[in-house]
Formats: sequence, structure tokens, C-alpha cells
Amino acid sequence: MIIKNAKFYLGGRVVSKDILIENGKFKGFGKFKGEGIDAKGLFALPGLIDPHVHLRDPGLTSKEDFRSGTRAALAGGFTTILDMPNTKPPTTTAATLRKKAEIAKKKAVCDYGLHFGATKNNFAEVKKAKPKSMKLCMGETTGKLLVDDVYSTWRHFEKFPKEKPLLLHAEDEETLRAMEKLKKGRGEVAEKIAVEKARMLAAQANRVVYFAHTTTFEAVHLAKIWGRSLVEATPHHLFLSKEKDGKRLKQFANVYPPLRSEAERRELWGALYFVDSVGSDHAPHTPQDKEAGAAGLPGLETSLALFLNAYNEGRVELPWIINRMAESPAKIFGLKTKGRIGKGYDGDLTLVDLKEKWNVSADGFESKCGWTPYEGFRLKGRVKKVILKGKLVVDGSRVVKEIKGKRVL
Ligand code: NCD
Ligand code: ZN
Repeated sequence: MIIKNAKFYLGGRVVSKDILIENGKFKGFGKFKGEGIDAKGLFALPGLIDPHVHLRDPGLTSKEDFRSGTRAALAGGFTTILDMPNTKPPTTTAATLRKKAEIAKKKAVCDYGLHFGATKNNFAEVKKAKPKSMKLCMGETTGKLLVDDVYSTWRHFEKFPKEKPLLLHAEDEETLRAMEKLKKGRGEVAEKIAVEKARMLAAQANRVVYFAHTTTFEAVHLAKIWGRSLVEATPHHLFLSKEKDGKRLKQFANVYPPLRSEAERRELWGALYFVDSVGSDHAPHTPQDKEAGAAGLPGLETSLALFLNAYNEGRVELPWIINRMAESPAKIFGLKTKGRIGKGYDGDLTLVDLKEKWNVSADGFESKCGWTPYEGFRLKGRVKKVILKGKLVVDGSRVVKEIKGKRVL
């Protein structure tokens, strides 16, 4: 497969060359003879990686499943996603991990990895399953995968292999409960306390911790006091706020951690440099579930486009987007063949039109949930074509082909 006339970063500068992919891998860059896909006017990013996605399979497939969720990923420009363990049953034993792997193998149409889940006492199962990454929820969220005591948290920090990423939902459960009783809402202090607790324990255990969806400038900086902390940011905490969007979306704005104030949202942009990765925290719920109070927002099909729009507004550089949405997640999660346009890497590409303006609408979206918090947003910058291991799977911003995804984690 030859991609003709694409612009892309190669060795740190923008070039305009053909890209040759052979046997699913990048083979060379230059001028090649033969038929190919014309990418004139498009910018090629390495196939993006979303490290924080809830695909709801098994058990909650009215919200999403491995097929609909991975189609949504492709439409949004992601060729690899990492799935979260709060399914039904949760992915907290060797058997449930195996079962989920079988389902994903049948249904996934992009590459994928499966995060394992920590419970207060599944130490033997962690040992048995040997997952490459694990998620630990310090505060209650969808699915009730809760580890809210220091003893179990510390034990997981010590026992889980030190170099493997341990992902944290950092909201302190005791603080959340107190805030509820005091009618103080679910404020950012619960996050800061959890971040403080976790980074101190991580320093004690001398291990890497990955803070999922950090929401404030202060939380990012508190996390980074421990030199081996990794920090993820989500699009919704960067692009939506309590005042503006909370009002507009009512219970549809409900998400953990919650949307913050407009002032905090703006401040978070100031911490962008310290953010290691972007995770969409794609957490689809049906409109009925949202009406009934479910927390979580879909994000796969809007995450990249929001950042491309921010690029067009001069708020972020393309190398930042490429690094935090491809290179850095590949490095953090040990995906050695992913995240770069370079010889020998997997032939995954996200081709975007940086100038196309479009209106976000869930109407044409692939996610089963059928809604988006960004409905009606006018964005500049859009995914046009996606290439997965040398095959054109998205064309004209639509999924046009399904090939089997491969497990990478
Ligand atoms: C997530 C979900 O629905 O699975 N919800 C959310 O509000 N973010 C769970 C989570 O990531 O905490
Ligand atoms: Zn999540």
C-alpha cells in the first residue's frame, strides 16, 4: 500500500512524501511508483492510541461493545485502544481476563489492550493473570471497583511489577463520603487528597503510578512531585466546564471526576506540558442510563477533533498532539511497534484535514450510546482516512472496512 503526497513529521520536521507500507509495517518514505491512496491536502499522524476507554463488553453491551466501540475508535482516529476493567463481570480475575480476551478477539476491529482491575484482595489473581497494566480505583465510580484502604493500596503498589503502569482513579473515598454528608458536592479536594496519598505511597514503594483523568493544575503538579508519576488528561476537563456545559447538559454532564469550574478548566491548560497522555475516558451510557444518573461521557469520536480545533486556535502544537496521543501512550504501555511513523513500526495512520470545518452530531457516530456532550460544536480539523496495518478502514470520515484487531496488551 502506498499513501501518496501526505504531509507528516519525519525525524522532527514536516515532510511531504509517499509512505510505503508492506506486510502491515512501514517500509519506506520517498517517491514510489504504482497505485496508491491520494492523501493530498491531508496531514498524516501516527495511528493514535487511546489508553482510557470503557467498551462495556461483557455485560453492559446495550451501552457499547467491542465492535461498536472499536468502530467509534477508528472513526475518531484511534487505531489502538486500551479497555478498562469495570465491565460485568469486572476484569479482576485470570478467568474474566481470558473471557474478555476471547470476546475482543472476535469483535474488535482496531488493535486493543485490556487493563486488569485491582480489588481489595485479588493479589493471587493478579499473579496468575500477569496483566501488563492494572487499574485501581481509590474512590467509587461506575462499576464499584473500589480499593479505598491504605493497606490494600500499599500492598498492590508493592506487589504489582514495578515497571508496569498502575493506573489510578484518584478521588479519595473517605473524602467523597464526607463531602456527600456535608453537601459539598464532589469537589476537587477529593482528587488532591487522593493524589497526595497515592504519590507518597508510590514513592514508598518506588513505583510508577499513572494518574487517570487529572482535572486541575494543582493535581497535576502534586502528582509530579513523585518523579515516576505519569499524568493523563481528558478532553472533557479541558474543553467543558461546570458553569457553561453543566447547565447546558444537566444530568448528561455527570462524570467522575466531575467537570470543574471555568477558572480551573483554564488553569488546566497551563499544566499541559506536564501531562503525559490524553485519555478520552470514553464512558458511554445510554440516554436512559444518563437520565437515571449514570456518570461518564462518550469521547472517542471527538477527542482528536477537539485538539485539532485547539491547534487551529493556536492553543496547542501538532507535536504535542502526536506525542500525547500516540508516542507517549505507546512508550508508557510498552507498545513497541506503535506510536510512530518510522520504518518497522505498524503501518497505522490517522489522516486528518486540518482545515475542514464540521458540526459535531451524534447522528453519524459509531458509538452505541447515541449522544455526545459536544453536539452542535463547530470544529476545525477532522479525521478523513484511517489506515490500520496497511488497510484503509476509514474513508471520507466513515468506517468503510472491518479487519480483525490484534491484542497488544
Ligand atoms: C466511568 C464509567 O462510566 O465507566 N465513568 C466516569 O464517570 N468516568 C468510570 C470511570 O472512569 O471512573
Ligand atoms: Zn474511566
